[in-house]
Amino acid sequence: MVVIRGATTIAKDEKEEIRRAVKELLDQIVNCNGLIRDEIMSIVFSSTSDIHSYYPAAAAREAGFVSASLFSAMEPDIEGGLPLCIRVMLFVQKDILPRHIYLREAKVLRKDLTTIYNIAIDGPAGSGKSTVAELLAKEFGILHLDTGAMYRACALKVLQAGVDVEDERAVLDILGPATIGVEFADGKQITLLDGKDVSVEIRLPHVSMAASAVSKHPSVRLHMAEKQREIAHRMSCVLDGRDIGTFVLPDADFKFFLTASPEVRARRRYDELVAKGLSVDFAELKEEIVRRDAQDAGRAVAPLKQAEDAILVDTSDMTIEEVVAFLKNKMRERI
Ligand code: DC
Repeated sequence: MVVIRGATTIAKDEKEEIRRAVKELLDQIVNCNGLIRDEIMSIVFSSTSDIHSYYPAAAAREAGFVSASLFSAMEPDIEGGLPLCIRVMLFVQKDILPRHIYLREAKVLRKDLTTIYNIAIDGPAGSGKSTVAELLAKEFGILHLDTGAMYRACALKVLQAGVDVEDERAVLDILGPATIGVEFADGKQITLLDGKDVSVEIRLPHVSMAASAVSKHPSVRLHMAEKQREIAHRMSCVLDGRDIGTFVLPDADFKFFLTASPEVRARRRYDELVAKGLSVDFAELKEEIVRRDAQDAGRAVAPLKQAEDAILVDTSDMTIEEVVAFLKNKMRERI
């Protein structure tokens, strides 16, 4: 059994705010620790004495934590203590290294328990970054944020609307009211477009090219980068993309730039798509990858580029396991 700790703060002593904060805290604990809800035996909350509007335990039940035994208590009023704070302790039937989660104003608490760190993996299409990022994230028990999927969801929306992807004004008009979101279930990213899971659809080759085109527009990039930073600042994650080390998180703790020959990259993408049941033409795919690289590297804002302090890894002749082992060794050297 392990015990996972966490805390968050609320802006106001209101029922809705308590519900939101409890759900956010528990969801992050679940995601970052790769838990399934049935593994949680008990959840114990304490809240500061300035919180009266609702029981955190009731909010947890409403958020779907129904199989665990739930309990809330009020803390003594300690002078100088963090106000409007909800603390939690989860007793979990699992043998893992726990990741404790402290959010919002509560980030200042228990720095000893929570070090947030980010790993940036950039590189061209098919360099293996997504697979490597996923494996690393699983191994470290942290999130994998696939930033390309966010641009792909933008592109899908624009394609569905039948708008020219090159026309920034028209793209913005379409994307303005759209909601692009990511959720994490069992450590895996689900990409949502207007609340609908589009994780498979966005992998189609015509969406890839449109994603590259849409991502050229500065207004789209700034908006996406902001969302990515917001996630990365809240929790440890491996982010894969084109501009993570140079633009989204120039202060990332670890930075890698993965590359491979166009032939190898096209072959990997082909195998990946075929495994997903999608039908593609190899020659077309290779041509698309080369065109996409040129477009991603040639754009004005945050182009595909190796950060000066990123470690370059040519994965052409490496297996995925070798790449993961190489990255882990490099990280160990730095710790
Ligand atoms: O990683 P991917 O192939 O899923 O990315 C699709 C496109 O999205 C890519 O061609 C360029 C764009 N992209 C980007 O501009 N910046 C990122 N951080 C990630 C992707």
